[in-house]
Parts: sequence; structure tokens; C-alpha cells
Amino acid sequence: MTPAAIPTLALRGADIPMVGLGTWLSEGDEAERAVATALRLGYRHLDTATGYGNEDQVGRGLADSGVPRSAVFVTTKLPPDRAGRERETLESSLTKLGTAHVDLWLVHWPPHGVATPTTWERFIALRDEGLVRAIGVSNYSIAQIDELIAATGEAPAINQIPWSPADFDADLLAAHAARGVRVGGYSPFKRTDLTHPVLSEIAANHTVSTAQVVLRWHLEHTVVVIPKSTSPERLAANLDVARFALTTDEVSRIDALGATGRATG
Ligand SMILES: NC(=O)c1ccc[n+]([C@@H]2O[C@H](COP(=O)([O-])OP(=O)(O)OC[C@H]3O[C@@H](n4cnc5c(N)ncnc54)[C@H](OP(=O)(O)O)[C@@H]3O)[C@@H](O)[C@H]2O)c1
Repeated sequence: MTPAAIPTLALRGADIPMVGLGTWLSEGDEAERAVATALRLGYRHLDTATGYGNEDQVGRGLADSGVPRSAVFVTTKLPPDRAGRERETLESSLTKLGTAHVDLWLVHWPPHGVATPTTWERFIALRDEGLVRAIGVSNYSIAQIDELIAATGEAPAINQIPWSPADFDADLLAAHAARGVRVGGYSPFKRTDLTHPVLSEIAANHTVSTAQVVLRWHLEHTVVVIPKSTSPERLAANLDVARFALTTDEVSRIDALGATGRATG
């Protein structure tokens, strides 16, 4: 059965499908196969990074899938130690991925632990040249985002941060929203006890898995999520989260796991 369509979210510069394929620790032929399988299953968003060392394989999987490049949202990231070498690093990513542009380019971590507006200025310039459709950051604090805005007048389109029920923080979501910055969540499963009774009870209500409940919970909070898998069964299950919705009460019960940290494995 074809899964119900995954919603997209407007970023400045591009619309991002709210569920994408994570590829950290996907390597070699396995990464290539996972990407091609995911795209054939209906994924339209791939998350890689120069630092993952798999942009070649992600690009080959994209080419092998038969899905047109224009139908797929591709994210890659600048390693913090490449600050100052933004253009050559992006050009190398484009060559490896076999594409003329990426849809989203992120500063993977604050270089040397600081906001680094000079790198952000180069991101803006390379976006304005058309090599990238949208630009953002990852692992930035709100104070560091404010530094980028103060220096350039432009906020990142998105901040990709660790996110899971155990990380739930309404104030942090509100702080991003107040600045017009979308939130992308990473490591949804690694940071969660998927046997937690609250998640199990809610999963039973909808006849889905606890992993699907966690992904759906991200969507209910308008958080983009990029679960990684190389298993065809789990790839399919992770995309199948648009045919059910959580109730307000269910969302609140999952949010409450963040306050206690009980969902952390
Ligand atoms: N910006 C950053 O600094 C940063 C940091 C970390 C991650 N990321 C991105 O976020 C992506 C996701 O995070 P992650 O890879 O750290 O962790 P994750 O997606 O939370 O977890 C991946 C693990 O969960 C397993 N899994 C997948 N689907 C499952 C399911 N339905 N039920 C149970 N287990 C399942 C996978 O195994 P199988 O493969 O065997 O299914 C794998 O062991 C990364 O791949 C990467 O693209 C970004």
C-alpha cells in the first residue's frame, strides 16, 4: 500500500518534506541501497553531510532510484572545520551528490563552538548564486542564532537539533518560532526508550508502533524529522505516519516525558 503523503513545510527558499531519510552511519553499498529503496518507497527528502563521508553513495542511490532529482529535497552540511573553505566544500558536495544545487545547506556545528557570522555571510552569498535553495544551521543555540541575525539581518531557515520526547522543551520551540526559524529534529529513536509504557499505550490506540508514534509526535509539533534506517521494513514503517494523528491529550502525555526525562534510554 502506498503510504499517505507526507506534508511539506515552507522554508525560506524551498518546501521541505517533514519526514526525510537520515544517513549518518549508512555506508558504502548499504547507504546507496537504502537511499534508492527509500526513494522508491516514496521518501522525497535525504539528509546527508560532508562529515558522514557518504555523499557519493547518497548521490548514486538518488541516480539509481529512477526518481527525478527535481522531486527530491537534498540536505548536506558544512563541517565546522571547513569554515573559511565554504565554496570549495560546497562544490565538492555538489560533485559527489551529482547535482547542480542542494535544497538545504547547514552549518553542521558552530565552528570552534561559536556562531561565526563570516561563514553565515558566505552561506548567504552562495545561496544568492543559486548553488543552494535554502540555508540553515545545526546544533546552534538561540543566542548563536541571534548573533547571525544581528550580523547579517538574515535568520537561518532551520536549526537541526537533537529532538525526541525526552528533549521536549516548549520554550525552545517558541524561541525558534519567534525568530522565524523552523526546527529539524535528529536522532528521534536513539534518544527514546521505544518500550516506554506511555508510548506503547498510544501506539496501541492507533495500531501503530511506538517508533511511528514518536515520528508522528514530531509532525504534531511542526518539527521536521529524519529517521535513519537501512532496513526496507523500517524504512516503509517510518514513512507511514501520515494516515493517523495524535489527539491533543496524547501529544501532552508525550510532551510530559520531556519534563521527567523518563523516555530517555
Ligand atoms: N546535525 C547533526 O549533528 C546530526 C547528528 C545526528 C544525526 N543527524 C541526522 O539525523 C539522522 C537520524 O539520527 P540518527 O541516525 O542519529 O538516529 P535515529 O534515526 O534516531 O536512529 C537510528 C537507529 O534506529 C534504528 N531504527 C530505524 N527505524 C526504526 C524503527 N522503526 N524502529 C526501531 N528502530 C529503528 C536504526 O536501525 P536500522 O538502520 O537497522 O533500521 C538505527 O539503529 C541521522 O542519520 C543524520 O542524518 C544529524
